[in-house]
Amino acid sequence: MGCLDGHRAVVTGGASGLGLGIARAYADEGARVAIADLDKDAAEAAVRELGGGSLLLEGDVSDPRTVRGWFERIEREWGSLEILVNNAGIIEYRKELEPRIQAITQEVLSGGPQKTALDAVSTLSDEDWSRMLGVHLDGTFYCTREALRIMTPARYGRIVNMASVAATMGIGAAPAYSAAKGGIISLTRAVAREVVGLGITVNAIAPGFIDTPFLEPIDDLVRLGFTAQIPMRRFGTVEEIIPTALLLADPANGYMTGQVISPNGGIF
Ligand SMILES: NC(=O)c1ccc[n+]([C@@H]2O[C@H](COP(=O)([O-])OP(=O)(O)OC[C@H]3O[C@@H](n4cnc5c(N)ncnc54)[C@H](O)[C@@H]3O)[C@@H](O)[C@H]2O)c1
Repeated sequence: MGCLDGHRAVVTGGASGLGLGIARAYADEGARVAIADLDKDAAEAAVRELGGGSLLLEGDVSDPRTVRGWFERIEREWGSLEILVNNAGIIEYRKELEPRIQAITQEVLSGGPQKTALDAVSTLSDEDWSRMLGVHLDGTFYCTREALRIMTPARYGRIVNMASVAATMGIGAAPAYSAAKGGIISLTRAVAREVVGLGITVNAIAPGFIDTPFLEPIDDLVRLGFTAQIPMRRFGTVEEIIPTALLLADPANGYMTGQVISPNGGIF
């Protein structure tokens, strides 16, 4: 008997990294899991691996019509939904900033003040800003809106939003990402209050730096700079985020809502 026996979960961005780890963990606990992801091949592989009634929801979480279609399908095929994990995300990685990020990393690692101007905000395009907020914040809103239409009449639900320490501490090289994740934390708290009488909890995970394909573009020096700021002196693993994701989906965890839990090696 798993703690999620009979439960049905949608995990956005479930084809890779943290989402895939969470999907596997929920399936191991007895849940049926739908993988909602832009990457069709990886999502198909995940659904094949999970087997047993899992579903593939292909498309872009920042498109409201796509998201509506996903949840209409969930209602048609499953009839109900107990868990939503809003996890799909992209990193704000800008090659042109790399020399300046490296220079700042050198300054910080040598114990001196940060003198180099990064110019991350002054050079950020409208498109990059909008895309970052679209995938993270709009996507979280669209999925939450559709999931609540199913969870509210059932008077039960667990919504888990993937934030980041970028929201709580701010990452200078990733202003749009930090802002989008900050919005996710505020949305988490607002929705938690809205649905507090309906048996639906809404919480967020704000991981620190976790080794997934997401952080692969970061070069070795910058990785060293981040690692030096982490009291545990290492990045975390997907397995180290799973216990928090399980806690927030657990039906026994009914008194916790509007919270942000941050497994982050002590960085914040
Ligand atoms: N890895 C970290 O250090 C870290 C730290 C804090 C928070 N996070 C957050 O965790 C989440 C998962 O990140 P990860 O590290 O597993 O990354 P990942 O790149 O391994 O996985 C992200 C998944 O999201 C999917 N995706 C991206 N854009 C999408 C879209 N528009 N629509 C649908 N699916 C989309 C990708 O195809 C991929 O499968 C993200 O929200 C990320 O911001 C990651």
